[in-house]
Amino acid sequence: MNIGFIGTGLMGAPMIKNLLKSKHQISIFNRTISKARKLKRYGAYLSYKIDELVKDKEIIITMLTDDKAVNNIIRSKTFLKNVCKETTVIDMSSTKPSTALDNYKTLKKKGVYFLDAPVSGGTKGAESASLAIMVGGEKKIYKKNLKVLKMLGIPNYVGKPSSGQAAKLANQIIVGITIGAVSEAIIFSKKLGLKPINVLKALKGGWADSKILQTHGLRMIKEDFKARGKVASQLKDMENILNTAKMNKINLPLSMIIRNLYKKLSKKGYDNLDHSYLYKEIKNYF
Ligand SMILES: NC(=O)c1ccc[n+]([C@@H]2O[C@H](COP(=O)([O-])OP(=O)(O)OC[C@H]3O[C@@H](n4cnc5c(N)ncnc54)[C@H](OP(=O)(O)O)[C@@H]3O)[C@@H](O)[C@H]2O)c1
Repeated sequence: MNIGFIGTGLMGAPMIKNLLKSKHQISIFNRTISKARKLKRYGAYLSYKIDELVKDKEIIITMLTDDKAVNNIIRSKTFLKNVCKETTVIDMSSTKPSTALDNYKTLKKKGVYFLDAPVSGGTKGAESASLAIMVGGEKKIYKKNLKVLKMLGIPNYVGKPSSGQAAKLANQIIVGITIGAVSEAIIFSKKLGLKPINVLKALKGGWADSKILQTHGLRMIKEDFKARGKVASQLKDMENILNTAKMNKINLPLSMIIRNLYKKLSKKGYDNLDHSYLYKEIKNYF
């Protein structure tokens, strides 16, 4: 099968490496070509232009920053002119559900299939092909592409087009608020004279335990804020959550607090640090 992959960032690069373990021919494209070159040694074919990448593919996967980046690619004249009928475009970036629905409709008019299939599990999940994949779209198209999705993680069909992105926003409500809760728990423990690493161990297996407690908690304790998931991405997700909630007349007071804290971090220039850096914003709150 000929598969095209657009976006070789923190998530895209390890996902491409997993696809390259199969017999499929994998072509890749990235806006900054130099960042994609390192994947050639794993067997990827590097396309220098978007039309070259798009042509003659059965599947095109996109893994891009945000709604604007996805639309820049999928809605571009070059993409729409060169994409073949019956190709499936799978957008694995995190966007608003409304963006996914618009892209589904635009591509359908050209006889091109679309799945929204955002992920959770971070760079670790991308490396180990264990990402939670939330899929929206036509069920028969989901089934048709299941084998390829399984090379990247654990796909689950959520429902009609845009449902994958809606599920991902629900996921990000939990991720954002939990990173905030873990930050407060570590700050609290330290102030009471406890060793936070001992608290993490003691909480293991209890109701408060989670991947975020053990992973992001450790990053906070070690003050290791090298980005695996960026502050900018988390802020984008929180904005998309609140935007979608507003459109549907839903109040999300906790998400609003977390969005405001991430906004402060972004204004201070910390966009490219890990989203666990929220810990510092809460620590220095007053
Ligand atoms: N990192 C995580 O833990 C994580 C977990 C789950 C989901 N996600 C989601 O996965 C997606 C990718 O995240 P990431 O962490 O891999 O981000 P990243 O490392 O910043 O990569 C973003 C990619 O998008 C490309 N891009 C950005 N703007 C573009 C534009 N206008 N036109 C074309 N390409 C553009 C970048 O190209 P350049 O190289 O040229 O900048 C890069 O390839 C995001 O939607 C994020 O929310 C991330």
